[in-house]
Parts: sequence; C-alpha cells; structure tokens
Amino acid sequence: MLHEFKDMLESLQVPQTRHAILVHLPIVFSGIAMLLALAAAFLRQNKTLRWLAAIAFVVVLGTSFLATNSGELAEGAMGEVSQRAHRLAHEHEELAESVWMFALGGLVFAGLAFAGKPKWLGPIGAWLAVLAGIAGAGWVANTAHHGGKLVYRLGVGTPHPVQDEKPVTESMLAAITDPRARFFLTDVRPVLRDRCMGCHSGDDPARGLDLTSIDDYLLRDPTYGQPVVPGNPDNGILMRVINWTHETPEEDMPKPHMPPGKRDPLTPEQIASIAKWITDGAVWIDPPAE
Ligand code: HEC
Repeated sequence: MLHEFKDMLESLQVPQTRHAILVHLPIVFSGIAMLLALAAAFLRQNKTLRWLAAIAFVVVLGTSFLATNSGELAEGAMGEVSQRAHRLAHEHEELAESVWMFALGGLVFAGLAFAGKPKWLGPIGAWLAVLAGIAGAGWVANTAHHGGKLVYRLGVGTPHPVQDEKPVTESMLAAITDPRARFFLTDVRPVLRDRCMGCHSGDDPARGLDLTSIDDYLLRDPTYGQPVVPGNPDNGILMRVINWTHETPEEDMPKPHMPPGKRDPLTPEQIASIAKWITDGAVWIDPPAE
C-alpha cells in the first residue's frame, strides 16, 4: 500500500503524468459548478446553494490555473513531435488559457445572485451564472477533447520506445570491439535519437523515412536521393539536410532543412560526428541491452 503510494508520488514528477491527473479537476468542477448554478437558480430561496455555486466557480478558477500551469511544463517536456501535434498542442493551450474567463464570469454572476435590490437583479445574476456555467463546462470539454486527441491519436506524452531508451553506458559498450560501432553508439545515435527519431519513427514516420533502422538510411527509394552513401558524406541527403546553422543565408539553406521549422540546428560537432560516421562506412549497431 505504502509502496503504491510512493509509486504514485513518483509518477507525479513526470510533467505529462502530472498534467494528465490535474486536468481532471477543472473538468469535474466545471460540471459541478454548472449544476450548482442551475440548482441555485431554480431554488432561489436556498442561500446555501448560492454559496456553493459561488465556491464552485472559485474552485474552477483555481484548478484551471493548476491545469494550465502543469500543461505548460508538459509541453516543455514534449520533445520532438510532428508539426500536426505542435499545432494541436498550441490550440489546446489557447483554449485552456480562456477557461478562467468563464469561471470568473460565473463567480461575478453568482455574486450578483445575492443582490436583494433592485428586485430583478438577483434572479438575473442567478441565470447568468447558469449560462456562464454551461458555457464554461462546454469550453472545458472542448479543451479536454483537444488534449485527448493529442494523447490518444498522436501519442504525445505516452511512452516512446525510442525517446525512452536508456543512455548507453560503459558496461553496455564493454562487449563491443569495433571502434566505429562504439563511436556510432556514443556520438551518433544519441543525436539522431534526440533530434530526429521522434518524427522519423513509428507507424507513420515523417516522409516515410524511419531513422531507427539502417535499412532506411541505405536502401530506401527516397524522393530526393539516398539518405546515406557509406564512405561518402558529400553524397547522401541526410548530410545535406542537417548541414546548416543559424547563420546560413536563406539562399544556401538546404531544402528541407532538418530538424525542421524554427528548431535549433545540430551543433557543428554533432554534424562533424555524423559526417565521420558516414566517412567510416556508416557502421550500424542497435543499442545493446544492459
Ligand atoms: C518535427 C519533426 C521532424 C524532425 C525532428 C526531423 N524531421 Fe526530417 N522530416 C520531417 C518532415 C515533415 C519531412 C518532410 C519535409 C519536406 O519534404 O519538406 C522530413 C524530411 C526529411 C528528409 C528528406 C526525406 C526524403 O527523402 O524525402 C530527411 C533526410 C530527414 N528529414 C532527416 C532528418 C534528420 C537527419 C533529422 C534530425 C537531425 C530530422 N529529419 C528531424 C520531420 C522531421
């Protein structure tokens, strides 16, 4: 029991997990706030219900702040994801950032519901609080739907076989005698893994290029040419697309450039390592088990 509790606390350290847990709070409370506002509007003489509705809107306000905040951290830990996932995450974030307006609106109207004078103000406040409650719950549901698509359709935040790989340790390398294979494991594969494989792997790799398997580097029938020509770094498209820095003038930029978009280029050292790997014959080895 204690052990399970410890496991649970540990999983809360992972930003994606923490966000996945915290987002349920505004989802639940926006529903509760809507129902309480409705009950308070129908049972106008019940002061407790009015108080509970107002408190529920405060709770939505607080929990939506927690959820948005944890979402920002989860987004930062997202790693390399497809353009589509990026766009969806951005939309999800924008929706989430507006939830507080509905909660604040609900709170203000729920406050108006207490007004005794003029006579019409109380009931109007109560019904406006209902409207804010319904709109807020709908908005939260739509936001949650976007987040759900990110996780369940695009796999963002779920365990990733490539990105979750353990770093190569000395003991894993002990059995490997070929220095080129060692160099690949220590200096090349980690770069490809961290900067490229997030998009170029899985069921639907970008441009159909799966960078987790040597077959695709050498044998693929590519749109622009063979990705890697062993022994000749000047000839494959892989070297071509990574060969740029922030200083490269627009007309000299490779098309496409990788990593794509506004991402940082590989460092000159990383590019040099990949070139050396190709010059030395592009020796491929899967990471050894521990
Ligand atoms: C964010 C996702 C993403 C990341 C990260 C990424 N790529 Fe790409 N890659 C793409 C997309 C999308 C295309 C198709 C772009 C186009 O043709 O304009 C592509 C195209 C390519 C191509 C051309 C494939 C062909 O034959 O058509 C190569 C080679 C390539 N990437 C290598 C890399 C390398 C090497 C890295 C790491 C340094 C990398 N990519 C990182 C998404 C990504």
